[in-house]
Amino acid sequence: MNRETVIVIDFGGQYNQLVARRVRECNVYCEIYSYKTDIEKIKSMNPKGIILTGGPNSCYEADSPTYTKELFELGIPVLGLCYGAQLMQHILGGKVERAEVREYGKTEVFVENSSKLFHNVSPSTICWMSHFDYISKTAPGFTITAHTADCPVAAAECEEKKLYAIQFHPEVLHTVEGKTMLSNFVYEVCGCAGDWKMDAFVENTIKDIRAKVGDGRVLLALSGGVDSSVAAGLLSRAIGKQLTCVFVDHGLLRKDEGDEVEAVFGPEGQFDLNFIRVNAQQRYYDKLAGVTEPEAKRKIIGEEFIRIFEEEAKKIGAVDFLAQGTIYPDVVESGLGGESAVIKSHHNVGGLPEYVDFKEIIEPLRDLFKDEVRKAGLELGIPERLVFRQPFPGPGLGIRIIGEVTEEKVRIVQDADAIYREEIAKAGLDQDINQYFAALTNMRSVGVMGDERTYDYAVALRAVKTIDFMTAEAAELPYEVLNKVMSRIINEVKGVNRVFYDLTSKPPGTIEFE
Ligand code: XMP
Repeated sequence: MNRETVIVIDFGGQYNQLVARRVRECNVYCEIYSYKTDIEKIKSMNPKGIILTGGPNSCYEADSPTYTKELFELGIPVLGLCYGAQLMQHILGGKVERAEVREYGKTEVFVENSSKLFHNVSPSTICWMSHFDYISKTAPGFTITAHTADCPVAAAECEEKKLYAIQFHPEVLHTVEGKTMLSNFVYEVCGCAGDWKMDAFVENTIKDIRAKVGDGRVLLALSGGVDSSVAAGLLSRAIGKQLTCVFVDHGLLRKDEGDEVEAVFGPEGQFDLNFIRVNAQQRYYDKLAGVTEPEAKRKIIGEEFIRIFEEEAKKIGAVDFLAQGTIYPDVVESGLGGESAVIKSHHNVGGLPEYVDFKEIIEPLRDLFKDEVRKAGLELGIPERLVFRQPFPGPGLGIRIIGEVTEEKVRIVQDADAIYREEIAKAGLDQDINQYFAALTNMRSVGVMGDERTYDYAVALRAVKTIDFMTAEAAELPYEVLNKVMSRIINEVKGVNRVFYDLTSKPPGTIEFE
């Protein structure tokens, strides 16, 4: 590999992806590997530096994750964070013990500015601590470069061997000067040049795609989501009409979304490609008629997508490549990268490869984090409203309409959701909330409008704040905004006479309703 790379060795810490993202924010490419990865593989990548993550174990216990001592003898700079710092000290002859009290939360840390790691960092700086064990004695050759009121070794280093151990977490934002420390590590210690930039990525990837595809043909399932849109943009710039995008409008998209996708990628849009829009709305409504059970609905929506895509693929005939918008967290979370393997249960295009006649898969975004995908999208000139779209589930409104899906209910939820989005944007809240949408409860209730009794549906509004979508909290929306949304929905959306705001966190709720 000739790309300048820093490697993160993952010991099961919850912030493993965050460490890699922060390094990349310093314009240095970074990949995550499990601590089970053989040292020969690490060596073969010729990394500029290595970072050991935190983890939940105690390094002095027999079956805890560890690594061969050779790692510290390669002459490659190593930075250990939390568990990684303790492990480094433990392996190299220091002592790690259980502390009487856990040090947790924002903590004042006193650092020595003579350390390269703490260059330009304030002598007293707030850092995020989360540990029970502590380094009670540093390994031979190490000097202490930071401490706290409770922790004698908040950082230690052996400058000569380029080994650095820090007890806190520079990758989380609570560590106020964490970014400076990571930047110091990659630039001042590892001597990186910082060549990981999205404009260069786009340019290089376009060249790579051309070289790989030659005059072959590529097929992509375009959902209109961020990942498949950026993949389409990249492929289009690289190979133009050799790319065919199939966009299935299943009638469960947000209001006007199908037309928006077509405006960008269709014949009138800015990209050179073959665009096929399949208007399958009625087909989906027919299939979903009478179905109320959430899993059954999901299954129908997923299977129908595969059927339609298969039909289209047959019309097109054999292709050389099937493109997918896989991104780096998908790779890590499917267990191929880091240690904290979570097998994704949601997969929009799951199973597609079995139904298409192709030779090879091409995944141009496989190395990118989501924020990088967005930057690449902007580089490619994809409109901001598409690039900064909030997550939208594959089954779409199908899982935001409780109970049976009908065309009328889709219309209600689309209209209510459009009003909600408009008001959130007007209030300037759209960048603060990670996901928000309107859903349709399956409940009808009595109301009064004018002088008339009504018996209509109740809309539920959801807005959550979350980092990883595995846990979430209801966002605290200003009352005036909620009130305005409620009043507009009641007045403008026929068939609705009540609006609820969902306060449930996840767990116990999920973000979606089904
Ligand atoms: P839940 O409802 O499980 O949602 O708390 C967590 C995140 O996943 C999204 N989600 C899906 N995404 N296909 C997807 O592509 C799905 O079937 C699916 N179900 C949920 C959801 O929007 C939220 O961001």
